[in-house]
Amino acid sequence: MDMNTLIKSGEMERTLEQPASIRDFASIMRSETVQTISPQCEMYRFASSRFSTDAETRDYYFETGFELANNLCEFLKEVGTNPYQEDLLDYAAGYGRVTRYFVPVFKSVTAADIAEDMITFHSQTLGIEGWISPPDPAGLRARTDRYDVVFVFSLFTHLPRDTWSKWLAAIFSMVKENGYLVFSTHSYELFELIAPGKFDAKHKRDFVFWEANETEGRLPTSAYGCNIVTEKFVRKELSRLKTAEFIRRYRKGEFDRYHDIYIARKKCESARQNIAQTQLSGESSMLNKLFSLFSKMRSG
Ligand SMILES: C[S@@+](CC[C@H](N)C(=O)[O-])C[C@H]1O[C@@H](n2cnc3c(N)ncnc32)[C@H](O)[C@@H]1O
Repeated sequence: MDMNTLIKSGEMERTLEQPASIRDFASIMRSETVQTISPQCEMYRFASSRFSTDAETRDYYFETGFELANNLCEFLKEVGTNPYQEDLLDYAAGYGRVTRYFVPVFKSVTAADIAEDMITFHSQTLGIEGWISPPDPAGLRARTDRYDVVFVFSLFTHLPRDTWSKWLAAIFSMVKENGYLVFSTHSYELFELIAPGKFDAKHKRDFVFWEANETEGRLPTSAYGCNIVTEKFVRKELSRLKTAEFIRRYRKGEFDRYHDIYIARKKCESARQNIAQTQLSGESSMLNKLFSLFSKMRSG
């Protein structure tokens, strides 16, 4: 029985085996990760159209999944957070290209996506829990403040402008206080490489959407197409969420090979309330002092 199976069977406490360094996380992910790929996986099928052999496709599929999970662990370590103590949600997880690498190193991993088959794959093959995401962002409000880390790779890259902000707010609501939302976007820099000249600087807008996707008809291109966004756009959208703090942007090549990655932290509402309360009581005691000074002056 491997370590992961032991932990899942409840015979061993995960916290007993905490890795000491990021190198340990990487080696645990490399050795403990399930290698089964669903024949329905669109990420695998898309990759196979780009490579000439199965071996190259598999290598790309596993390496890119590993790189994302490993870079997330590096980020968490950098901010003093230990994945072994964190509950992670992989939202829009697909068939678990990345999710599988989180499983051996996070306290708990949950997968969400819109297709039941994907959730069945997660429970039967990766041994983790999952839920089917609702068709409307408002449906996520029932899961407010649930996860320490919510990871969303390649969902915001597909949404049209009219639903982008709603999904951002709803997905962010699932992050616990002091937790992190980590999500990917497409940049102009990426599309200058893929389609040189097509998105000429003159036509740059903060958000460009067009109808095309890889799902071969599973999802409508009007609701799930392709977009490009600027950092200005992402920052503005985050600033509209009153508890979101922009932490950083990783440009393509720094965290993922192609996508940009944005990280936002959920500010602690109670701390904000305490500060506001302290300021308020400070202000009211100052007013009281002024009032009594004024009364003394009048009576004197
Ligand atoms: C490009 S795939 C990425 C899968 C996975 N994150 C990965 O990187 O391998 C995007 C996924 O988003 C899912 N999706 C689309 N709209 C969604 C929504 N509103 N809520 C949750 N998942 C959604 C799709 O079913 C698909 O599995």
